Amino acid sequence: MQNGKLMPFAALVTATLFSIAAQAQNPLVSPESQRRAKELLRKMTVDEKVGQLNQSSGIVMPGFVDQKPDDMIAKGEVGSILWLNNTKEINRLQHIAVDQSRLHIPILFAFDVIHGWRTVFPVPLAMASSWDPSVEEAAQKEAGEDARAAGIRWTFTPMVDIARDSRWGRIMEGAGEDPYLGSAMARAQVYGFQGKSLGPDSELVSVKHFAGYGAAEGGRDYDSSYIPEVLMQNVYLKPFHAAEQAGAGNFMSAYMDLNDVPATGNRWLLTDVLRKDWGFQGFVVSDAFAVASLQVHGFAADPADAALKAINAGLNMDMASLTYTHNLAKLVAEGKVSEATLDKAVLPILAIKYQLGLFDHPYVDDTKTDAVLDRPEGLALERKIAARSMVLLRNENHTLPLTTSAKKIAVIGPLADSIHDIEGGWTVEGLFGGPAKSHPVTVLATLKSRYGANAEITFVPGPQLSRVFPSMLDALTGVKQVPPPTEAEKADWINKTKAATADADLVIAVMGEAASMSGEAASQASMALPGIQQEMLETAVASGKPVVLVLENGRPLDITWASEHVPAILEAWYPGTEGGNAVADVLFGDVNPGGKLPVSWARSVGQEPLYYNHNLTHEPEDRPTFTSRYWDVESKPLYVFGYGLSYTSFNFSNLRLSHDHIRASESTEVSVDVTNTGSVAGDAVAELYIHQRAGSASRPVRQLEGFERVTLKPGETQTVKFTLGKDELEFWSPQTKAWGVEPGAFDVWAGGDSKASLNTLLTVTQ
Ligand code: BGC
Repeated sequence: MQNGKLMPFAALVTATLFSIAAQAQNPLVSPESQRRAKELLRKMTVDEKVGQLNQSSGIVMPGFVDQKPDDMIAKGEVGSILWLNNTKEINRLQHIAVDQSRLHIPILFAFDVIHGWRTVFPVPLAMASSWDPSVEEAAQKEAGEDARAAGIRWTFTPMVDIARDSRWGRIMEGAGEDPYLGSAMARAQVYGFQGKSLGPDSELVSVKHFAGYGAAEGGRDYDSSYIPEVLMQNVYLKPFHAAEQAGAGNFMSAYMDLNDVPATGNRWLLTDVLRKDWGFQGFVVSDAFAVASLQVHGFAADPADAALKAINAGLNMDMASLTYTHNLAKLVAEGKVSEATLDKAVLPILAIKYQLGLFDHPYVDDTKTDAVLDRPEGLALERKIAARSMVLLRNENHTLPLTTSAKKIAVIGPLADSIHDIEGGWTVEGLFGGPAKSHPVTVLATLKSRYGANAEITFVPGPQLSRVFPSMLDALTGVKQVPPPTEAEKADWINKTKAATADADLVIAVMGEAASMSGEAASQASMALPGIQQEMLETAVASGKPVVLVLENGRPLDITWASEHVPAILEAWYPGTEGGNAVADVLFGDVNPGGKLPVSWARSVGQEPLYYNHNLTHEPEDRPTFTSRYWDVESKPLYVFGYGLSYTSFNFSNLRLSHDHIRASESTEVSVDVTNTGSVAGDAVAELYIHQRAGSASRPVRQLEGFERVTLKPGETQTVKFTLGKDELEFWSPQTKAWGVEPGAFDVWAGGDSKASLNTLLTVTQ
């Protein structure tokens, strides 16, 4: 960030320097933790310091990790351990560190507690669909308590990567395409895990993957990202900065090359932006094996060069690759890395260990773990959050909500009764060995209990879903691939579907993707419903019976046909442990759906990357002639960002500004009235969008700058208020290379999705 030098547009710009915000920030650790850390650091040898920068695997992983870390821990060569989900083993290794290593420094245990431990919450993309940050905060508070009860004090969450391309498998781990919604969800997760400040009751977060990972070319996981600084600042970095300002203690560097410099060796990211501009006080860990990969990228000549480049870029901790362990001490001895650089890398790790209370309480009471993980309040919360996260995409002729009057129900689809898929990816128990102890409720199970003995349910699952190329985790854990069905088997399933649906009063199809089809190393080139689900769905619709499609998936899929032929479509994402119950709560109207899409839903994969906050082009899409569009497919999404239906209807009116002319340093209040015009209570999300008409750079056609989810009784009106001020109006200009509010005219819209038409104008003067 530039300082107060004279800049070309300085007269127009009220520059806002992040460093000012950084100075105002509360310290991450207390002066006492800082003092104790410094005192300890003075006693440490170079080898012991390097030890603190090493995060070792707690498990043997053939091909990746050859041995358990016991000996290294005893020698003080391990600062952190990851991938352990066994509490007794965690205590055993902690005893080695505390009892046998010279300085008795406890280990910080880490794992990917992404959306719960034994109680698995909906995947993050689903929770973002709630458009309710309190949902994320509550879920992650619960997940953090569970993690701590199991001995894990550091979670590799939240993933705040902006994803504008649904082919990218990890879209399900984040909050979707929007920096404003993403920032709100990022903050909520930091507060959920860490609380408002870091302390003994906190679960340390890791904000990942810093930065630009979601822009991998072609949506292929790990592929290079090319992102100009204007987009880094205005889009990709925003949720990271929000998480940092919320007090995040750790960041994780991403795998990919960012503009040809791997994120793990990227000094601009790790030092200039994160520490100098933002004033980050915590530490940065690499992604798994990413320091060693600097060589694979063709960025480092050998492992020593990789260690050198990573530490000089500002990377504190090496996850799993042992590159620091094998090279750093020598680099210090040779004078290539100064001891001051080493100390700077170690100090925040020690200080955070003190701040978390690890030195005072290194062990976890494993007699209490199960009682915490099994508490029923967690499941009740999960059910509520799952239902709150669902998005109703279509509901013709009030197909939903259902009554229990149907006597013959056909349930079809491979996900209707799959306990392996309903919780989605990144479930901790059961990963890398150990029993999975959650007991997910499937949609079929809950339908059976809702309808009881009065109805007959016929279940046609169809063939089990399988990937063409195996999933990384399946490969690691030795899960066998299911062979694709033969033509005869396919025909048999279609016949069974025909018979069951012809005979039914109601068809409920539960379809989408297997959990292993989204997540890491799970990018895909086609968005079609995998397997023979599309044929099964078309067979069901051909029966003429009412069909309800419940989707379980981690990304938008090609449901263009369904959007025209299936009367009701409910997006349930991967809804978690109580998922089946939550789906039924919505299907039967106990809960009125109020979720909204956090991503633009493409009609076909050729539209990707697709996002609503693009710039206006030379030929905007509503012109009749040379529009910037494809000639063979609609250019608009199937469902726009922010879209979602309800069992009631809402009207937005009376959009007004407290001041329609403000100075660049001032703010205005925006109000809009939301009325429930239907006959049942329901939730509306009031969404606020702006567009700056002219300035030193073109601005997006629309950008979200406020939202609030409200519950309204039939006939009730509520006034929702937002503020438009510096935080909402400023942008990073590629011309001034600074943040600022530029005077000019701003369109303001409010409504129920990103196509909201109710609008007014705000004028900003110098
Ligand atoms: C993933 C990270 C994860 C880490 C540790 C990596 O493969 O990219 O998101 O936190 O593994 O499990």
